[in-house]
Amino acid sequence: MQKTLTALLVTLALWLPVHAEGEWVDIVNGTLWQDTDGNTVQAHAPGFLCRDGVWYMCGEDRSRAFRPDVNLYSSRDLVHWTFLGKIIENGVTDPELGRRRMIERAKLLYSEKTGKYVVWCHWESHNYGASEAACFVADSVQGPYRKVWSGRPLGIKSRDCNVFTDDDGTAWFISTTEENQHLGLFRLSDDMLSVTDHTQLFPGKSREAPAVVRVDGRYFMLSSACTGWRPNQCKISHSDSLTSGWTPLENIGDAVAYRTQAAAVLTIKGTKQTTYLYVGDRWMDPDLPNSKIIIFPITFDGTECRFHYCERFRLNPVTGEYQIPD
Ligand code: DGJ
Repeated sequence: MQKTLTALLVTLALWLPVHAEGEWVDIVNGTLWQDTDGNTVQAHAPGFLCRDGVWYMCGEDRSRAFRPDVNLYSSRDLVHWTFLGKIIENGVTDPELGRRRMIERAKLLYSEKTGKYVVWCHWESHNYGASEAACFVADSVQGPYRKVWSGRPLGIKSRDCNVFTDDDGTAWFISTTEENQHLGLFRLSDDMLSVTDHTQLFPGKSREAPAVVRVDGRYFMLSSACTGWRPNQCKISHSDSLTSGWTPLENIGDAVAYRTQAAAVLTIKGTKQTTYLYVGDRWMDPDLPNSKIIIFPITFDGTECRFHYCERFRLNPVTGEYQIPD
């Protein structure tokens, strides 16, 4: 008995420091990711949710190019992704999906208030004339999801989109509005299932692919110009309020955002440091199904932000540390 107990304590003592320090992983850009079953990861324009150390990633399954379903994966380290299933599927989840409508930019939320998982997305016709959004809800992250609502939020034409949950739990839907002219910031209801009000941002600036992150009380928003699947200059703006005070758009990164378009900025709250990672899509590489997900560190210093694009870097998802090779 005594011996077994000692052996157990020794094992625990050896195991604890390793796991408290986490294991380093290599993030390699420019290649297609494989999931833990060895299949290609299909989760374009991904949306992320982190709960209890597990990252969930949903995104467009573009294996059939223009008829995307929404896939869900999970990972503890952003490298080993387990396929959890199709959470929204053409011909299955909604009668309109795959006939009059397609989904782009599915983004995942969790409501602490209701304990439910919510997906907001761009809900579009094939000529982008519908300009709608849709909202789905489920009791479990893996679904089944049912459509709660689709249409133009508050009657406003809405295309490329993203979501943002603030530190106080308030959730926002952000989309490119009125024929790609403006960005619309829509506050979501407490249950995250409907839009309650709208603030127009960056009027006439034609921005899409918005991605918001909050760093030390300041909001930063990345966005692209509207050039279809072709990459263009990423711009950044910041404000200490979501609804007003955004600074003029400034260029960030190279002229084509390292051939990407922003999808998300991840906040890795590690035991040693908080690290921010840019996630973007390298579309049409060379075709839609082979579009790549690109990740690299981005840093903030007061109101300054810098992209650290690299072809590979090491990340410790537990401590939050990262290393970019010379
Ligand atoms: C760019 C958008 O960001 C994508 O989500 C998609 O709508 C393409 N345009 C379509 O051309």
